[in-house]
Amino acid sequence: MRGILHQPICDILGCDYPVLQAGMGGVARAELAAAVSGAGGFGCLGMVREPCDLIKREIAEVRHRTDRAFGVNLIPAATAPDLFTEQLKTCKDEGIETLVFFWDVMPEAVAHGNDLGMQVIYQVGSVSQARAAEAAGAVAIIAQGVEAGGHVHGTVSSLVLVPQVAAATHLPVIASGGFATGRGLVAAMALGAQGIHCGTAFLAATEAFAHELHKQRVVQATSDETVHTDAFVINWPKGAAVRVLRSAVTDSLGDRLFGHDPDAIPRHRIADEDGKPIYRWSTDSPLRSMQGDLDELALFAGQCVGDVHAIRPAAEIVADILEEAREQIALIQAR
Ligand SMILES: Cc1cc2nc3c(=O)[nH]c(=O)nc-3n(C[C@H](O)[C@H](O)[C@H](O)COP(=O)(O)O)c2cc1C
Repeated sequence: MRGILHQPICDILGCDYPVLQAGMGGVARAELAAAVSGAGGFGCLGMVREPCDLIKREIAEVRHRTDRAFGVNLIPAATAPDLFTEQLKTCKDEGIETLVFFWDVMPEAVAHGNDLGMQVIYQVGSVSQARAAEAAGAVAIIAQGVEAGGHVHGTVSSLVLVPQVAAATHLPVIASGGFATGRGLVAAMALGAQGIHCGTAFLAATEAFAHELHKQRVVQATSDETVHTDAFVINWPKGAAVRVLRSAVTDSLGDRLFGHDPDAIPRHRIADEDGKPIYRWSTDSPLRSMQGDLDELALFAGQCVGDVHAIRPAAEIVADILEEAREQIALIQAR
């Protein structure tokens, strides 16, 4: 009995429930995407700037774990054009049906994905970018509010942005940024969205590829402990803002949270991943595969971090969101 929580976007994506797991770079690999899709949500591989052999391997691993649909997240505006073209070709060759793009809308990237037979969902942070994504041929819009974890494209809260995007486009809208609970899912539906897109809620999932240190910090943090800054910008375009957990590194910024230039930041190696240097102020977050001063890296998390209380399986997280949403709807109806 899927009921009211089965929304039209679910048929577009091929899932039971409109709980989308954000394609978090490094963090959202096959184990997490498969667990979310297997639980009836929509899992997504976070493959930003990843080489094609890794993308191929992760897609195969998801398929090994579940026969449910899942997506691949890519970031056209932060990926070298040649690599991006190869990534698209790999996704097509591996039979991917849904791509989730983020950051500046690049119409040619949507057209390229569509030409290869894949549908594109675009995550945006403003009404104008939502309109641009619709005009480019996206099939749905993810509207990201400023309370989101990781890279944050806009400046407006989800509460304000989601209904405005829903009014401005004809496409299904999914709410992103601050959603980690069943109450949040019901609220998103009341705002005009058909579902929610969650990063922070799944960051400390057992299956997430985030390092234990990052997961523990997420579990301990309260919602007032995040920082919005463009200081973690090595590897990304100038001005790209993120939301991270407050740390000694963010405290060292003082009032200078914005205005950082990736080309002017000295490369100071503070960690390693399979021999690859990881620099302070890069957009790398601590992963299982890294060693070094990991607490000095970007500890991405959104304001809903205060709703995450334990490291636990993704299927439990999905089930709790759905159960709480049903309870909340019943409570509203009973009033
Ligand atoms: C650890 C982490 C990594 C992220 N990496 C990506 C990414 O690679 N690509 C992307 O499109 N969004 C990324 N995001 C942003 C998410 O897509 C989404 O907008 C955000 O998580 C929603 O807000 P929430 O964290 O409150 O759920 C990331 C978010 C987090 C928390």
